[in-house]
Amino acid sequence: MYAAFRSVGAYVPQKVLTNQDLEKMVDTSDEWITKRTGIKTRHIAAHDESTSDLGFKAALVAIERSGIAKEQIDMIVCATISPDYLCMPSTACMIAKRLDIANIPAFDISAACSGFIYALATAKSFIESGMAKNILIIGAEKLSAIVDWQDRTTCILFGDGAGAAVISATENREEAITDVHIAADGKYYDYLITPGCGTNKPCSQIALEERACFIKMKGNETFKVAVKTLTNDVRDILEKNSIDASSITHFIPHQANYRILTAVASALGLSSEQVVMTVAKYGNTSSASIPMAMNDIYEEGKLKRGDMMLLDAFGGGFTWGSALVPFAGN
Ligand code: UT7
Repeated sequence: MYAAFRSVGAYVPQKVLTNQDLEKMVDTSDEWITKRTGIKTRHIAAHDESTSDLGFKAALVAIERSGIAKEQIDMIVCATISPDYLCMPSTACMIAKRLDIANIPAFDISAACSGFIYALATAKSFIESGMAKNILIIGAEKLSAIVDWQDRTTCILFGDGAGAAVISATENREEAITDVHIAADGKYYDYLITPGCGTNKPCSQIALEERACFIKMKGNETFKVAVKTLTNDVRDILEKNSIDASSITHFIPHQANYRILTAVASALGLSSEQVVMTVAKYGNTSSASIPMAMNDIYEEGKLKRGDMMLLDAFGGGFTWGSALVPFAGN
């Protein structure tokens, strides 16, 4: 039994925050943000919209496009670093409740910006082992709730949104996800971290005063490790599967910074037509960025059945991953 990537969907909250809006909030400029990151706008969820609301709406689209009934879904995996609730219940359980699906496993994955590829690896393994047939995977983030709006080095980077996909069992080898690779190196744990409000530094007045419950990042150091690690990881997965970069239809990387995307793409000899870039309009939406970008090209009519997609992601942990995925949807 193989795992096929059947469908993609996404949900983008309505409110748009521009670089000009940020100029009024912190000491920054549209010029700096554009030059260093490529970001022009990001979307921000409403106060009464939580991560599971975003994930639920993306999931509805992915399920509808998959052609299967929601009752056929036998597992829900949600990747997120901005769950509805800190410890429990999981955001996947909240999405299952909204979908009115019960008695199947539903759990979250914590792998930061690599979360969608970790979820994909999980779905592929469960399907290939025969333990599931139709898995809903979701990357959903309300990062605006964990961003420090007083920290100009991070608040300009992140946005909210969700993407989802249905991964199904198939006997047709041509539809099969070719390969998924995931990895991590915990020695970089404090390069990208929310230091407070976990068990290491429980929520307290001091943690709040230190603004420790918000994202902190050693941006420049993270940038350097990201470019090197991603270039090697993507090169390895192509070599391992004897696939030439020229036969990739869509390179869909995690959307953190256009400079990281273009550095990796040019090291691999990928042309600009192959690279999917949505960072300008959505910013960095962590685990949601890959399915949101994929959904964009699907809705533009550019993603066709049989197209070979190359995915890559890098994030806090550090974690990273890559995948070679033929699109098996319609
Ligand atoms: O998604 C998970 C993975 N994430 C990433 O891979 C993100 C990786 N990092 C990055 O994308 C980039 O490092 C950033 C966009 C975060 C920063 O760009 P940079 O070119 O690495 O800038 P920098 O951190 O070296 O800062 C350069 C200068 C500093 O000023 P001084 O010390 O040179 O005077 C910063 O204080 O830019 C200053 N700066 C800003 N200036 C205006 C930092 N943030 C801002 C800002 N507006 N928002």
